[in-house]
Amino acid sequence: MRFHVLTLFPDMIRQGCDNSILKRAMEKGLVEVCPEDIRDHTTEKHGKVDDYTYGGGAGMLMQAQPVYDAWQHVCGDKKLRTIYVTPQGSLFSQELAKEFAKEEELVILCGHYEGIDERALDEIGAERISIGDYVLTGGELPAMVMIDAISRLIPGVLGSDESAETESLEGDLLEYPQYSRPEVWHGKSVPAVLLSGDHAKIREWRTKESEKRTKKVRPDLYEKYKRRQDLIKLLMKQKKENAYMIDCLMRDTAEVICADGAQVLARDKKTDNWMICCDDLEAGEKLLSLVPKDCKRLIHNFAPLNEKIKEVLGLEVGDECFQSVYTQKNLMPIAHKDIRPYPMEALEYAAANYGTNSGPYIADRIKAGEFFAAYDGDKIAGFCGVHAGGSLGLLYVDPTYRRTSIGSSLASYLVNLALERGGFPYAHIRISNEASVKMQEKMGLYVGKRTIFWTYRKDF
Ligand code: ADE
Repeated sequence: MRFHVLTLFPDMIRQGCDNSILKRAMEKGLVEVCPEDIRDHTTEKHGKVDDYTYGGGAGMLMQAQPVYDAWQHVCGDKKLRTIYVTPQGSLFSQELAKEFAKEEELVILCGHYEGIDERALDEIGAERISIGDYVLTGGELPAMVMIDAISRLIPGVLGSDESAETESLEGDLLEYPQYSRPEVWHGKSVPAVLLSGDHAKIREWRTKESEKRTKKVRPDLYEKYKRRQDLIKLLMKQKKENAYMIDCLMRDTAEVICADGAQVLARDKKTDNWMICCDDLEAGEKLLSLVPKDCKRLIHNFAPLNEKIKEVLGLEVGDECFQSVYTQKNLMPIAHKDIRPYPMEALEYAAANYGTNSGPYIADRIKAGEFFAAYDGDKIAGFCGVHAGGSLGLLYVDPTYRRTSIGSSLASYLVNLALERGGFPYAHIRISNEASVKMQEKMGLYVGKRTIFWTYRKDF
């Protein structure tokens, strides 16, 4: 990812990137930071870039001409997403960092003095972002804060010991207390549960500690978290019917648009899938009226809504599936141990065996780190993956290894992965796939009677 930073103090940016993880990411070519000195673009012969504000008032303002010309210089003929860091902006957040991390190039514009002439900002179409409710002397430190927060989300920037997955602010909770060696220090012992080796208990303890800490120091975040937990609890009363939404809520990728008891409309921010859980036609139609007309996919669990969905949104039922859920907190035993991320070089094998036109989708899952292979020595004996929407599946076992433990090991591997990520392990099984229903029931998953519907635009 490339950051262009328009600034009057390019050395501040250079020095800020010349350490630790950012430096390593730049050396690996994963991140490029290009400071651009705005002063190099002024047409004023003494190199002036600021002037007094019209209407009076203290302080100087950066003039439109050098700012706009510097911006045009870095953009060339591309229209790059541009952020103006200013205390007058919307608040930067982990969620925004995730959104910016999807860009290939970003321009960050740093102001100084009293800010920048409004006309240049309008012409550039800059998004205004603040890093907090306080005022700094310039935009360079906010730019560095953003570059740091965004870069660590780029695959490969953090090493395997530095995870971006479990972290402060995931799921609206602050991080739990952490301990390292020695076991006793200044007479204080590490909490016994962390030495127990019982991972379900450790997860439970960590969640409780996170809740306690968040409630105390960030009551605003805790309120948000609590509302989400209450909704999950309500939907859990019919877990086999609501699994797809519960999982998104647990992983905190769902934006809840409307919740009236257990009649809920939400959008998965990761996939842009729209989701409805309901069991009442009137409530369902009300929720449907809130779905944007250009919605591409809607998943729901109430058959009588199908007709209305076609009429209102033009979406038709593509798949009808049972849902299977794993309701325990304990990890499943895995008989076959050699399961690893699936190598991109073996894409052809997976695509040929999973089904027609599955290649690009599987390639995407491999890239996302969500596709896995079971090995017998060097040979791939089967594979499985997590779908973009979070359900477990993409399971295939090589004919040589059918009726061995490979199939159930792959499925258990996915269940454990979902548990470790704080989600709700579930799968969607096409209603015609009786073999899969049987296998999942045998493994201890519950298969619901009521089906769910994936509705799509016909031309999708
Ligand atoms: N420039 C000065 N203060 C700032 C802040 N809090 N956020 C973003 N840019 C700034």
